[in-house]
Amino acid sequence: MPSKVSLTRYLVEQQRIDGHIPSQLRLLLEVVARACKSISQAVNKGALGSVMGSAESENVQGEIQKKLDIIANEVLIEANEWGGHLAGMASEEMEGIYVVPNRYPQGEYLLLFDPLDGSSNIDINVSIGTIFSVLKMPEGDRGVDESDFLQAGRQQVAAGYCIYGPQTTLVLTVGDGVAMFTLDREQGSFVLIEENVQIPEDTKEFAINMSNMRHWDEPVKRYVDELLAGKDGPRGKDFNMRWVAAMVADVHRILCRGGIFMYPWDKREPEKAGKLRLMYEANPMSWLIEQAGGAATNGKQRILDIQPGKLHERVSVILGSKNEVERVTGYHLGA
Ligand code: AHG
Ligand code: MN
Ligand code: MN
Ligand code: MN
Repeated sequence: MPSKVSLTRYLVEQQRIDGHIPSQLRLLLEVVARACKSISQAVNKGALGSVMGSAESENVQGEIQKKLDIIANEVLIEANEWGGHLAGMASEEMEGIYVVPNRYPQGEYLLLFDPLDGSSNIDINVSIGTIFSVLKMPEGDRGVDESDFLQAGRQQVAAGYCIYGPQTTLVLTVGDGVAMFTLDREQGSFVLIEENVQIPEDTKEFAINMSNMRHWDEPVKRYVDELLAGKDGPRGKDFNMRWVAAMVADVHRILCRGGIFMYPWDKREPEKAGKLRLMYEANPMSWLIEQAGGAATNGKQRILDIQPGKLHERVSVILGSKNEVERVTGYHLGA
């Protein structure tokens, strides 16, 4: 491709050359990117735009909502509801699904999102992001309801995130590898910075919230203990640790230079499968990671093969460099 390729051009060429993104999906992704641009503007203003701090409300997960959680959710809905490419949306910040109002044409896609990932970083000026996943309405279905959203992650037709960090970067897959685009604020457009992103199979870097160590299950404890033992331990090398507390930033680092990320089930809330949400966080990130040559499991099973039972389902997440993910998964399976 030529030296400066915009997201628009990339998507047109994906549609033209490979023919595997229909024009409706291309339009949908353009609109998501536009919404991310305006969320990025709000994020950049920070205290100058009155977007910091908490709102008065709680979301369905029992988390106090930040003002930006709500703003980002509204931006995504307003940008996407009128275009005619969607039948409905679902979000971490909404209890039920959002059906496209019947004053607008109904499309055949479903959009799911974590409008603002890493909420605890908002007020301290650290990276946050938006995560999204696109599914197709089941064939012959009339009228959208929650069950239409309950599809395994391998059914996704597009997935990605936009990270609001030192740069605003959109990372996308439509099933043909992973591409990264950085927002050029002067041009107002996302410009391709890397195609066919590949994660190294081995790594010396891991990401987990170590403060939960006493709550972990045995296989995770064993794995991390071995990493901490360094070059004198069974792994024979020293490992480094990073934890941004925004999945979007931890996954971005892994896509850039490898690593393993874990938010495993733990004993704090045994009835929940984990902290992270399958539909808005684990599925889109797992597909990106697999598309870049990595792996993603819940310890026992490939995340993309999990059949969701409900919209806000939680899941244990282990993803990143293939050989490390396979090792932890092996420990869970009794290896
Ligand atoms: P969100 O801000 O969308 O609720 O998600 C936060 C998630 C995830 O991004 C991050 O990896 C994790 O929570 C951090 O959790 P801890 O604060 O328990 O480390
Ligand atoms: Mn949240
Ligand atoms: Mn999140
Ligand atoms: Mn969120």
